[in-house]
Amino acid sequence: MDLSVNIAGIKLRSPIIASSSVDGMDGERIVTVSARKLGASITKTIVKNMQTDVLPNIKRVRGDSMINCVFGTNLTARQWFEEEFPKAKKAGIPIIANMAGTTPEEAIELAKGCEAAGADMIEYPTACPHMGNILEAMFPGLKVPLPEVNDPSDYARQIEAVKKAVKIPVMAKFSSIYHLTCKEWAKAVEDAGGDAISAADSIGPVMDIDVETGQPVLGGPRGYSGLTGAAIRPLVLRMVLEITETVNIPVIGIGGISTGEEAAQFIMAGASAVALSSAALLKGSQVYSDVYDGLEAFMERKGYTSLADFKGLTHRRIEERKAKGRQIIKDVVVPTLVPDKCIACGLCRRACPYGAISADGGKPVFDPAVCHGCGLCVSVCASKAIGQEYYE
Ligand SMILES: Cc1cc2nc3c(=O)[nH]c(=O)nc-3n(C[C@H](O)[C@H](O)[C@H](O)COP(=O)(O)O)c2cc1C
Repeated sequence: MDLSVNIAGIKLRSPIIASSSVDGMDGERIVTVSARKLGASITKTIVKNMQTDVLPNIKRVRGDSMINCVFGTNLTARQWFEEEFPKAKKAGIPIIANMAGTTPEEAIELAKGCEAAGADMIEYPTACPHMGNILEAMFPGLKVPLPEVNDPSDYARQIEAVKKAVKIPVMAKFSSIYHLTCKEWAKAVEDAGGDAISAADSIGPVMDIDVETGQPVLGGPRGYSGLTGAAIRPLVLRMVLEITETVNIPVIGIGGISTGEEAAQFIMAGASAVALSSAALLKGSQVYSDVYDGLEAFMERKGYTSLADFKGLTHRRIEERKAKGRQIIKDVVVPTLVPDKCIACGLCRRACPYGAISADGGKPVFDPAVCHGCGLCVSVCASKAIGQEYYE
C-alpha cells in the first residue's frame, strides 16, 4: 500500500504531518515526534524576535477541542537558523518553516533565512484571529486592526514577494476565520504563485469562563483565544472541499483530525495530505502514528491501494447527486435495527425529537407514521446498531 504523497515537488513518505504547534517548538521536539510515522513536520511560527507567552494559554474544552492563545515560537529567528534547523533536519523528513514577519520586508528576510538554514518549504499564515487583543495590552499604544477577510490582495502580494525571495515552495495557511471567503483567498494565492494551501488554523476569537470565579480561563486582557480540535473539523472539511474545487495547487487539510478515518474524510474532500495538532496535545504524540495506522486500516477495508483511489471522492459524489436528481430528498427512510448490536441503552428513544421510537424489551421500535427520517438516532447510537440509507 502506498501512502506517500507529493506536495509541490516535495516527496513525503506519509500523508500525516505535525501541524505548526508545540510539537514544532524546537529542533529536538521535531526529531522526537518525527518517529511517529510523520511525512513532514511544521515549525511553530518563527518570528524575528523572541516572544513571551501570556499564561495560562491552553485549555481543553468539551470533547476533543481546545482553546489556546499560545504565541509563535519562544526562540529567536537567529536561534532557529543557527541551532534548531540543523537539529530538526536530523529527523530525516521535510521540515516546513511556518514564519511571519511584522512587515513584508521582514517576511522576506525570514523566508531567506529559513531557506538557507535548510527548510524544505515555507508556510505563511494569515491573520491570527485572537492575538490583537493581547499584543495591544503587551505594547501600549499599538493598534492591531481587525483581520481583513474579504480582500485577499494584500496577503497575495506578500505571498508573491516571499515566492520571489526563495526557491523552495511557499504554502499559504488560512485561518478558519476565512471560511466564508476561502475560495477568493485560494484563487488569489494561486494567482500570486503560491505552491500550496493549508487549511486551517484556529477560529476565533473565542473564550471560556471559569464558573467558580467568573474569570476568563486563559491569560491576557480578556482570555481571548483560538478554537481548534474536533469542533472545527466540519467547518474546515467544507473549506477544503471549496478550496480544492477552486484551485489546482495541493491542499493540506488541518482541523480536528484524531483518527485515520477523519484523515480519510479530508482526502475525500480533496486534500493531498493532512496535519494535526490538538489531538496530539490532548492524547500524546502516539496519535500521529495511530492516525497513520488507522488510515492504512481504512484503506485496506475499502480495498484502496493508494490515496489517489479516494482523493476528491466527495467532489464526485456531489456531482453524482446532481446527475441522478438526488440533491433534494423528501421521502422518509425509516431507520432499521440490527438487534444483536443494540445494547438497549435507550439513548435513541430519548434523543428522537419526534417521539417516533418506542421500546420493546429496551430495544427501539421505529414508528413509520411518526418518524421524520432525520437521522439523529443513527448518529447518537454508540454501538452502530441503527442503519438508514439515503445514498448508496
Ligand atoms: C497550542 C497550539 C499552538 C499553535 N501554534 C500555532 C502556530 O504557532 N502557528 C500556526 O500557524 N498555527 C498554530 N496552531 C494551529 C495548528 O497548527 C492547527 O492549524 C490548528 O490547531 C488546527 O488543527 P487541530 O484541530 O488538529 O489542532 C496552534 C495550535 C495549538 C492548539
